[in-house]
Parts: sequence; structure tokens; C-alpha cells
Amino acid sequence: GKGGYPHYMLKEIHEQPDVIARTAFDRIDLGAGDVRFEGGGFDDAFCRSVERIQILGCGTALHAGQIAKYLIEGLAHIPVDVDFASEFRYRDPRIVPGTLALAITQSGETADTLAATRLARELGARVASICNVAGSSQVRESDATILTYAGPEIGVASTKAFTAQVAAATLLAIRLARGRGVMHEHKARQLLEEFRMIRPKIESLLTDEAIARTREIARKHAGARGFLFLGRGVNYPVALEGALKLKEIAYVHAEGYAAGEMKHGPIALIDPGMTILAINSVGHVAEKTRANIEQVKARGGVTVSVGSDDLSHSIADSAVPVPATDEWLSPILNSIPLQLIAYHIAEIHGCDIDKPRNLAKSVTVE
Ligand code: M6R
Repeated sequence: GKGGYPHYMLKEIHEQPDVIARTAFDRIDLGAGDVRFEGGGFDDAFCRSVERIQILGCGTALHAGQIAKYLIEGLAHIPVDVDFASEFRYRDPRIVPGTLALAITQSGETADTLAATRLARELGARVASICNVAGSSQVRESDATILTYAGPEIGVASTKAFTAQVAAATLLAIRLARGRGVMHEHKARQLLEEFRMIRPKIESLLTDEAIARTREIARKHAGARGFLFLGRGVNYPVALEGALKLKEIAYVHAEGYAAGEMKHGPIALIDPGMTILAINSVGHVAEKTRANIEQVKARGGVTVSVGSDDLSHSIADSAVPVPATDEWLSPILNSIPLQLIAYHIAEIHGCDIDKPRNLAKSVTVE
């Protein structure tokens, strides 16, 4: 059942401290400053043999894949392409030797993702998956799998499965980096120690007080004509995911955008009827995103800053502070208030949160 929560979505949002711990912590070997997957998957020889990675998925899973691209390129120095499975399968995609196709899928039964990975294999790629269902078609058709331990996800809007995918992708990036010898043991240990400390930080975003804060933001902005979610770097896909959540459960128009692209068009949309959520955590692009918040404000936009960058909070009209962590781990934390904001706006609009109109949990047909 819903364990006392009014919706599965809210229950699943609250499961995230456990889900992240289950998915990540047993695989972290702090002594070695490394990641160990069950059955010794992704060993050094395998990691060294990967020349290129092609990530495939749909919807929320693809957003996890976009985060994975930043992680794998940044930490393991492997070039990564990411594509919608539905686009990949119907163009004439090029796969170079040494390509690993990486499917990301909660259900393991999404038709487009299965078809795209089959095509990648035909073109010579090996296939790996990040998946939440052990016996699924996707897992059966993969050479290597990293399971997420999110447990069954009932709410159509993916929440815990997404953060678990991001956690799994983070582990994979670190393993690839270590296996290829491009990341020092002590640097990996530092990042993994930070990862091990994430649980109370996730919990702090789920206290009654933290929930009340997101409900307050939702109340203030539920009447906005539209929402623009902005982010940079590893938090750019977090912006895309925040917008998708709002669209799918609250039926409100929302767009995710790379903050640096603002000036190339979307800034024309800004007026007092638009709410702009900027996802900004302390890190190498924080100052840039902060400047974007200022530009939006100067044009009369209503701004909300989400993340660990306190200076952003002091500029924005409202703020959702998120605990500080390593920049690479910030997507897991920043996603949570966005899930809650979408949830509360959907609640205010009286939407059927667990079963949004026109949507199915698994899209097993095209
Ligand atoms: O089961 P999958 O992860 O392959 O599903 C992919 C998408 O259909 C899914 O993430 C969809 O976008 C959700 N409704 C997002 O909340």
C-alpha cells in the first residue's frame, strides 16, 4: 500500500534515502577508493576496452543518461553520446569500434529502448544497462547490468528510480575512471566518502519543514503561466527533469533549458507571469548560473533558486536551500525539491497524481 501517504509518488519520494543507500553503499569500497559491482562486472580490462559510450533511453531515464554523460566524460574521460531511443533507432546511426551502448530504463521493457539497443548491437556495440527490474527483457539482452535497487515504482512519475539511476551512473563513472587509471585513488576515495555521507542530506530534504517549504513555493507559483527550469553542467539535465515532472503530473507548461542558452531565445518569454527555477549548486559553473538569475530578474521574471549556492538564494525571489556536497553528487539532492514542487502544484490543481492522464507507466508499444 501507500504506507500512510496520500499518493505513491509521495511515498516513493520519501523512500529515496533508503534507495540511494541500497543502490550505492554496498558497492563502495572506501579502502580501495573504488567501486565494486556484483559478480566483478566492469573490471579493469573491460573499462579499458571502451572507446566510446552511446547512452539510450526515454523520458526520465534519458535525463539520468544526460547526467551520466557529464559524469563519464568528466571523470572517466570517455566520449559519450546520448540520444532518445526513438531517434537513434530511426536514423542511420554510426557506431565506431569499441562502442558500449548503455541503456537506462526503470522497467527494462520500454519498446524504443529495447529496439535502439538491439540496433546498436547489430552495428557492433556491446550492450550494458542500468535497470530496476532484474528479470526484464533489457537485462536479459545486456552483456552487463548495473541494477538499481529502487524497488517497485508504482507512481507513473518516476522519482526514486531516477535518483537511483543517477547514483548508479555515478558509480559507473568512478569505476570506469579507476579501471582506466585516470582517477587517483585518493580523489576517488574523497568523492566516495562524500557519497557515503549523502543519506542524512537526502533526509534533510524530506523533513516536515523542508516539505512545507516546497509546498509554500508551490502555492506561490501554482498560478504562473509557465515555468522555465534552468541549470548548467551536471544540473542542466536536472532542470529538464524538473520540467518534465511538472508537465506530466500538474499539466502545466514547463521547459528545461541550459542556463547559458537563455540569451539565445527563451529570455524573450520572461515577464512577471513566468516562474524561473534556477538549479544552482556550489561548483565550477555556479557563478555563471548566478548571472543568469540576475538577468532574469532584471527582465521582470519571478525567480526561485534551488541548490547549495547561497549567493543565488540571496538574489532570487525565493530559495530552496539544498545541503552542500561534491558538485558531481549535487543532481541527486537537487532533484528532490523539484519532485516535491511538482507534486504540490499537481495537488493544488487537483490532478490525479499517481495516474496522470494519457500516460502509462511502461511504454511497451511504440
Ligand atoms: O521504464 P523506463 O525507464 O524505460 O521508462 C522511460 C520513460 O517512459 C519514463 O521515464 C517516463 O518518462 C516517466 N513517466 C517519467 O516520469
